[in-house]
Amino acid sequence: MPIKSLIRTIPDYPKPGVQFRDITTLLKDATGLRHVVDALVARYSDAAVDKVVGIESRGFIVGAAVAYELGVGFVPVRKKGKLPGEVLGHDYALEYGTDRVEIHSDAISPNENILLLDDLIATGGTAEAAAVLIEKLGGNLIECAFIIGLPDLGGEQKLRTLGYKTFSLCEFE
Ligand code: PRP
Ligand code: HPA
Repeated sequence: MPIKSLIRTIPDYPKPGVQFRDITTLLKDATGLRHVVDALVARYSDAAVDKVVGIESRGFIVGAAVAYELGVGFVPVRKKGKLPGEVLGHDYALEYGTDRVEIHSDAISPNENILLLDDLIATGGTAEAAAVLIEKLGGNLIECAFIIGLPDLGGEQKLRTLGYKTFSLCEFE
């Protein structure tokens, strides 16, 4: 089933020149949603995943579904100031300025096998920051997986250069 055809492109959102790949049209389609979750579950069902980490906010949707199907727990990586407990944070560069993501310090135990999930990888800054947090907590990051890769923006390439495995269900130019 071609999931690409269920992803809507919105021109000039959130700013002029950006072709925004919108997964809400994929998520609202029962077959499309099932296909995404099933494809990821099939890929990782024999990978001895201990926990799925999902990145706020769209990474929560697919991440929680995949964790449920794999029979493992789900851990959120959130934007700064959103998690109530003790956190570990990591800053990463944006086009202008920096941003920060956080994880609960007790969310991962040393040597747990972690699958990192998000809806989309663009420059890779967010996923790299999440990967750093997972590794700082002692997690063994099995792979970083996405519904959509945007290879022109170099994110997956950057993660691979840093030694992380990556996987995308589909790509847009
Ligand atoms: C988007 C997307 C990824 C990130 C990718 O999230 O869902 O998390 O940007 O960009 P990068 O590879 O250049 O770091 P966004 O920050 O828009 O947050 P949202 O999911 O809460 O809308
Ligand atoms: N779609 C959704 N999220 C994004 C995109 C996009 O095209 N680019 C950066 N984050």
